[in-house]
Amino acid sequence: MNTKLWNPSTLTIENEPSIEEAAKLLRDRQVVAFPTETVYGLGADATNEEAVQRIFEAKGRPADNPLIVHVADVGQVEELTEDIPPVAYQLMETFWPGPLTLILKSNGQAAKNVTAGLSTVGIRMPDHPLALALLKQSGVPLAAPSANRSGRPSPTEASHVYQDLNGRIAGILDGGPTGVGVESTVLDLSSSVPVILRPGGITKEDIEKVVPEVVFDPALKGGKDKPKSPGMKYTHYAPESPLWLVYGDDEYFKQQLDQLIEKGERVGVIASKELAGQLQFDRVIECGSRERLEEIAVKLYSALREFKKSDVDVILCESFHSHGVGAAVMNRLEKAAVRTLKQQ
Ligand code: TXA
Ligand code: MG
Repeated sequence: MNTKLWNPSTLTIENEPSIEEAAKLLRDRQVVAFPTETVYGLGADATNEEAVQRIFEAKGRPADNPLIVHVADVGQVEELTEDIPPVAYQLMETFWPGPLTLILKSNGQAAKNVTAGLSTVGIRMPDHPLALALLKQSGVPLAAPSANRSGRPSPTEASHVYQDLNGRIAGILDGGPTGVGVESTVLDLSSSVPVILRPGGITKEDIEKVVPEVVFDPALKGGKDKPKSPGMKYTHYAPESPLWLVYGDDEYFKQQLDQLIEKGERVGVIASKELAGQLQFDRVIECGSRERLEEIAVKLYSALREFKKSDVDVILCESFHSHGVGAAVMNRLEKAAVRTLKQQ
């Protein structure tokens, strides 16, 4: 398949033909990647099973992992769900468009493979002008997982989508780098107390300003609990070389790095500017300040894609606090890591 690439140089909101062309492909049951404020999504008509099936095939995604449906307005939410609780309207009012996915009771209108057989459906309104223009122009809700091959880091630039999916999808709308960098928060509203199934761009602290109580799914902490969000059980965000996550102070990190270098390992480092500034080492990707984890979130996935298997044997990565968006950053790093090194 020829993957059509609509470039930023030719693409503006006013550039209707590109959006219209992409929307037409979507109406023809094809899949098209588009930017959102979090990561690039791989979209298809959420009401059409054949279209949605193409997403699973292009990504190599397990069929039991449901997709998030993207909508242009609250009316589309009402077309796909039933028994919407009042708190959902409050959350939509406060955080939409934005990186919050609400798990609501499905009324069966979404294609069966979108919800992977669950009685619920995850929905969000993305905060990106191209995504919203595409949704309006196509006239259908769009099922869209992150536009990476299953297991790989999510794409925060069109070139990442191209690396993973060129030849497998009908087109890529290039809107430049995404703003938030980690995916939306997935919030389950089907129980009396809302549960965060996946931490993301909207923090627990943000949600607590609107609802009296919200908790993290205990399965996020590891342990035996089965995750309620099917996607959370799979390998995720894996860089080409194994990633080791380091818990400890800067001295401990430097010791671990020195030991690996002494053993002759080719090491790549992912670190904050505070730590990177202390290392006399050239294979370091600096991801912003550890005082502002929003910066780390923006750069995280491109950092995970940067080191190639041919260049490094091991990636050593700094760990961060897990307040605010740090919960999302650490959740992704813990999933990407094959090993953790902990200071005693
Ligand atoms: O920011 C985002 O959410 C991006 C952009 C493209 O919108 N999308 C995204 O989709 O991250 P994906 O498919 O990579 O992750 C969707 C997550 C998975 O962990 C999935 O299991 C969960 O949402 N999910 C979807 N529907 C669900 C449902 N009905 N119940 C529980 N979890 C659900
Ligand atoms: Mg994903």
